[in-house]
Amino acid sequence: MFPILAFLLLPSILAKTSPPVDHLPPKGHLLVSKSILNKVVVQNADVVVKYSLYNVGAGVALDVNLSDLEFSTESSDFTLVAGDPRFKLPAMIGGSNFSHTIVVRPRKAGNLNFTAARISYRTGEKSEFQIAESSIPAEVEVKFATDHFRRLSSHFGEWCGFSAVTFSFLLVSKYNWLQ
Ligand SMILES: *[C@@H]1O[C@H](CO)[C@@H](O)[C@H](O)[C@H]1NC(C)=O
Ligand SMILES: *[C@@H]1O[C@H](CO)[C@@H](O)[C@H](O)[C@H]1NC(C)=O
Ligand SMILES: *[C@@H]1O[C@H](CO)[C@@H](O)[C@H](O)[C@H]1NC(C)=O
Repeated sequence: MFPILAFLLLPSILAKTSPPVDHLPPKGHLLVSKSILNKVVVQNADVVVKYSLYNVGAGVALDVNLSDLEFSTESSDFTLVAGDPRFKLPAMIGGSNFSHTIVVRPRKAGNLNFTAARISYRTGEKSEFQIAESSIPAEVEVKFATDHFRRLSSHFGEWCGFSAVTFSFLLVSKYNWLQ
């Protein structure tokens, strides 16, 4: 009984869920991610920020304009080192992707939440502008430059000590061998 009922109901369910048949042109739809490529983020040291844009729509996205205020204002907690946190693309066809990287340096240490970049674009030739926001990277800890480099130099010290021991051992062996 149940399978027959389901079979009878199926067409009406499909009719309800399928979109109305019309001839609207396909639209562009952008998804944008903002990510940090560094494993460790240190105060006053380079951080690589990557913006990835995906047009997951079937149509073209036009007049794409990305602007990241986090790195492009005077009061920013970052110094811009390379690249532009504002860029434009005339068009992105459906299914295409694009990425753009910039380099910044955090001015302060401490825990930090990044903010989203803003994107505007048109979803088709005759469409209005659409506003979107990028995803944001997870909260990061910006390490104090002094702590970070002290730790690095302590490793350097260990390494030098190890080399000195190894080297003196070699010298002793050589000396013994010469005798
Ligand atoms: C791009 O976006 C920014 C911020 O949303 C805006 O200030 C700027 O005028 C836009 N540029 C164009 C050409 O639309
Ligand atoms: C981006 O597009 C290129 C082709 O232009 C493709 O090879 C690549 O896999 C795409 N990347 C992603 C993450 O979709
Ligand atoms: C960052 O955001 C998370 C989640 O919203 C919050 O719990 C945390 O306190 C924030 N950290 C800072 C430094 O603002």
